[in-house]
Amino acid sequence: MHEDSCIYAPGVCQLHIDWIKIMDALTHNYVRVAQTSTLEAKGYLVVRVEGQTIALFHHNERIYAVDNRCPHMGFPLHQGSVSNCILTCHWHHARFDLESGGTFDPWADDVRSFPVQIRSGEVWLDLTARLDAKTHARQRLLDGLEQSISLIIAKSVLAGLAEKIEPTEAFQVGLDFGVRYRARGWGAGLTIHTCMMNLLPYLDERDRPRALYHGLAAVAAECAGQPPRFEQQPLPLSGQTKDKLPLE
Ligand code: FES
Repeated sequence: MHEDSCIYAPGVCQLHIDWIKIMDALTHNYVRVAQTSTLEAKGYLVVRVEGQTIALFHHNERIYAVDNRCPHMGFPLHQGSVSNCILTCHWHHARFDLESGGTFDPWADDVRSFPVQIRSGEVWLDLTARLDAKTHARQRLLDGLEQSISLIIAKSVLAGLAEKIEPTEAFQVGLDFGVRYRARGWGAGLTIHTCMMNLLPYLDERDRPRALYHGLAAVAAECAGQPPRFEQQPLPLSGQTKDKLPLE
């Protein structure tokens, strides 16, 4: 926040800025991770902070930070390439918006991006968790069903179970999806899905996610290519514009 852009009188303006700094400190978890000069000289850096490995990029006079692990299959993203604010992973070429971390390829997932501040020549990142893991797992299950992408379905099943979402919930989502979108009504996919759910209580703990996945993937495959055509999720809102302004 710069003083000349503040709507308040000078004295009040300083109070206003102080208040913003206090609120910023209370609601964010900014951590110093690098010198801007080092990053600018190299173009990218990998930093490890609070158990997370984060890739920093200096691109078009801006600094961006994303989780260094590609959400598709884990390739280190600092080895990818950046052009026009789009980061491309070099394993299967998933593309991500550097600002928000949103992916352009539905078979990958959004990568986590971190708000950046520059303070006295240092790069600070906000490590505050922004994503609700349960909501994300639920959304990804729907994405996987709509786009019929088995990898996304498998990941969302595992993520949902890890977040203590009941298997019956994933079953219900798959059932609703199948009966609603299969043009010719009940089919083999929905039968497989139902059988797998009935089998679940008798299966080994480690086999349950597999059974759930097989039923859901069968439903998705059975509905694939039929109307309606589902739109992809828009890029997530980064909400970083204000945060990227230096507070000094
Ligand atoms: S691991 Fe990055 S695109 Fe597959």
